[in-house]
Amino acid sequence: MDENLWNTIDEYLTSSLLPEDASLDAALHASAEAGLPSINVAPNQGKLLHLLAKLRGARRILEVGTLGGYSTIWLARALPPTGQLISLEGNSDYAQVARANLERAGVSGVASIVVGAAAQTLAQFVADNVEPFDMIFLDADKKSYPEYLRLSLQLSRVGTLIVGDNVIRRGRIADHASSDPDVAGLHEFFRLLGSNPRLDSTAIQTVGTKGWDGFSMTLVTA
Ligand code: SAH
Ligand code: DHB
Ligand code: MG
Repeated sequence: MDENLWNTIDEYLTSSLLPEDASLDAALHASAEAGLPSINVAPNQGKLLHLLAKLRGARRILEVGTLGGYSTIWLARALPPTGQLISLEGNSDYAQVARANLERAGVSGVASIVVGAAAQTLAQFVADNVEPFDMIFLDADKKSYPEYLRLSLQLSRVGTLIVGDNVIRRGRIADHASSDPDVAGLHEFFRLLGSNPRLDSTAIQTVGTKGWDGFSMTLVTA
């Protein structure tokens, strides 16, 4: 596995297909300056999320795990002016950085951040009967993906697309005896996806600047 080549090819793909983008660059720069970990999606992955949201015709998007708002900006840009994106973040310092990044990118009119433990916020949304979402991007703590999925399904309708980030974790997903709570959470997540007749799912491994990882993709069908 040649990680240098993965990086070179990611840079080639990104420079070929994605225009220079001052707002996205500024978001990453401000996030780094503020000491946030650089665990945002790669540019070509952000563009994938953007295209999926557009293909879905999403008007309401839910993101679980904001960090500095990099993926948030990609998703928000797929929305019509009347659309809405809500992103959940547990760390209020990160959320503050993200809010400035969303503002600078000109998407604060459609995208907002709710600070708090994501499972609690999601449960509150369910209790408040908030309008279902067209697309849900799960990208917070991996150990809680099963809980996020259960709550997400209560915030979904037929046609909702649920995308899960980081479902391969450099191959650690293959260790079925793992004591790592993130890996165990992902196993339970895949079990729930595979056993729910309401859900139509796949998952894809990825390599590139973010190493060896992958996405799950699920359509809510009933
Ligand atoms: N979606 C971002 C990356 C998110 S990184 C991007 O690609 O640009 C994961 C984020 O989830 C971190 O900011 C972390 O603080 C947040 N997080 C982790 N556990 C959480 C929890 N229980 N509730 C809410 N947010 C959480
Ligand atoms: C981690 C989290 C992410 O969302 C990601 O894309 C990469 C790494 C992490 O917690 O290590
Ligand atoms: Mg991620």
